Amino acid sequence: MQFDQLLHARKSVRVFKPDPVPLALVEELLTLASRAPSGTNIQPWKVHVVAGEVRARLEAEVLAHRETNPADAAAEFPRMSKRKEPYTTRMRTLGKEMYSLLEIPKGDQAANWAQWGRNYKFFDAPVGLIFTIDKDLDAMSFLDIGMFMQTFMLAAKTRGLDTCAQGAWNNFWSVTRRVLDVSEDEYIIVGMSLGYADETAAVNTLVAEREPVSSFATFHGF
Ligand SMILES: Cc1cc2nc3c(=O)[nH]c(=O)nc-3n(C[C@H](O)[C@H](O)[C@H](O)COP(=O)(O)O)c2cc1C
Repeated sequence: MQFDQLLHARKSVRVFKPDPVPLALVEELLTLASRAPSGTNIQPWKVHVVAGEVRARLEAEVLAHRETNPADAAAEFPRMSKRKEPYTTRMRTLGKEMYSLLEIPKGDQAANWAQWGRNYKFFDAPVGLIFTIDKDLDAMSFLDIGMFMQTFMLAAKTRGLDTCAQGAWNNFWSVTRRVLDVSEDEYIIVGMSLGYADETAAVNTLVAEREPVSSFATFHGF
């Protein structure tokens, strides 16, 4: 695949087939992702890869906790609680398109709750990844994790695999910490689903639009 094609082909997938992903392939993707750059090459990424029984227990415990403690839907590290424009509109546009493909009507709280809960089943992908970072690192290291994730997602796509990055996993972090024995010295910052897309699922046809260059770039000295 040409690189430009690859960039267009990668998109977030939210329904996966149950087909397993071999451990060796996941290790290959992680090796490739570790070629991502990081400030002063500190390589701050840490990843818990879950499958099988552990993954089933993680999902069950997070989903059960979510039912009884919905207020724990908050990250352990500072996150913005309210978005402003133009971000609100972009977020709403995505939500509208996604929920329309899912045939979930606006205001259907129960269906919304259930759909968001699918994050905690890794959208039925056979492999889940949980990314953590040492708490004493600063914002620059969060950039490094993002570089790692994008490299991983593109490498996965070249091998016919799909992904969905999932900030949802920084909620209910206390459960994830307990089940995966994540150190108290690390933040659980994000998760990711990895597997083979179910091409028949309407939601997987979603193409999230992008703003034109003129909306985010300012050119100086040309
Ligand atoms: C850091 C990060 C967190 C995300 N969290 C979620 C999430 O919790 N659930 C979800 O369904 N998608 C999540 N996404 C996927 C975004 O919605 C998606 O990347 C965006 O809409 C652009 O669409 P595309 O990935 O298909 O190009 C996340 C993406 C990133 C980069």
